[in-house]
Amino acid sequence: MKTAAFEDWKRQAQMAVEAALEAWVPEDAPAGLGVAMRYGVLDGGKRVRPLLVLAAAQATGGSEGAAMRAAVAVELIHAYSLIHDDMPCMDNDVLRRGKPTVHVQFGQAQAMLAGDAMHTLAFELLTAPPGQEEDFELAPALSARLCGLLARAAGHTGMAGGQAIDLASVGKPLSHAQLRDMHRRKTGALLQASVRMGAACGRPDARAWQALSEYGEAIGLAFQIVDDILDVTQESSTLGKTAGKDQDSNKPTYVTVLGLDAARRQVQELHAQAHAALSGSGLAETAMLARLADRIVERDS
Ligand code: IPE
Ligand code: IPE
Ligand code: MG
Ligand code: MG
Ligand code: MG
Repeated sequence: MKTAAFEDWKRQAQMAVEAALEAWVPEDAPAGLGVAMRYGVLDGGKRVRPLLVLAAAQATGGSEGAAMRAAVAVELIHAYSLIHDDMPCMDNDVLRRGKPTVHVQFGQAQAMLAGDAMHTLAFELLTAPPGQEEDFELAPALSARLCGLLARAAGHTGMAGGQAIDLASVGKPLSHAQLRDMHRRKTGALLQASVRMGAACGRPDARAWQALSEYGEAIGLAFQIVDDILDVTQESSTLGKTAGKDQDSNKPTYVTVLGLDAARRQVQELHAQAHAALSGSGLAETAMLARLADRIVERDS
C-alpha cells in the first residue's frame, strides 16, 4: 500500500467520522450540556479508535453504515474518558487537544455530566430509535454484540477498572506485570474493542477474529506505552496536552518502571506482534490496519 493511498483513505475516513459526530452529538441538550459535549469531542483528536473500527470493518467486509455507528460510539467513550481523566479529582489537567479542558471551560459539574451523557449516547447510537427498527443500520443481534464488546472494554474490566488502578498506583513501585495489566485495561481494552467492533460488523471466520483480537491487544498496549514515552520526550505544544505530567504526578509508567530504552523495545516487540497477527489472519485487505499499527508506534503526538 502506497503512503498516498493510506493518507487519502485516512483523510476521508476522518472527515466522515467528523460529519457523523457533528450530526449525532446534539447541540440542544439542556442547560449548555450539549455545548460542553460537543466541545469535548468535536474538532480535535487523532481519531485512532474510529479509524481502527473502519479499517477492521473494511478488512472483514463489514457494512459502512454499521461501522460508522461503532466508530462514533467508541470515540464518544474515549472522549468521555478524557474529560473525566483531566478533572481535578483524577489527573488535574488544564490542556487537552490543544484547548482548555472541559472542566476549565465549563466547570466540574458540567464536565462530569458531559462525560456521563457521552457515555450513554455511545450506547444509544448502537441501538435503534423506537419505531425505526426496520431502517436501522444494525440488525438486533449485531447491535447487542457491539454494545457488549463496548461495555466490557469501557467498564470495570477495562477502562474504568484501569483508571482505578492508575489512581491507586500513584507513588507506588509497580512491577512490570502490574503495569502491563493497568495499561491493558485503561487504554488497551478500548483499542482492542475498536478492532473487534469493526470486525463484528463484517464476517470474520474464527481464525481472522482471533488474529484481529491479537492485533488489537498488541497495538492497544503499545499505544499506552508510546503515550508514556511521549510524555517525557515531547513538548506540550506538540502533544496538545501538558507534557511531563506523569513524572509531576508521580505516576508509574513504562518509562519510570523499565526506562526509556526498554519501553521503546517493548513497543517494537508489540509492533512486530501486531504485524505477525495480521499476516496470520487469512484476510486479504489488512493494509490499512498494518499502516495504522505503524502510525501508532511512530507517532509524535
Ligand atoms: C490519549 O488518547 C489518552 C490515552 C488513552 C493514552 P489519544 O492519544 O488517542 O488522544 P486523542 O484522541 O488523539 O486526543
Ligand atoms: C489515560 O491515560 C487513559 C484513559 C483511559 C483516559 P493518561 O492519563 O496517560 O492519558 P493522557 O496522557 O492524560 O492523555
Ligand atoms: Mg490518567
Ligand atoms: Mg491523563
Ligand atoms: Mg498519558
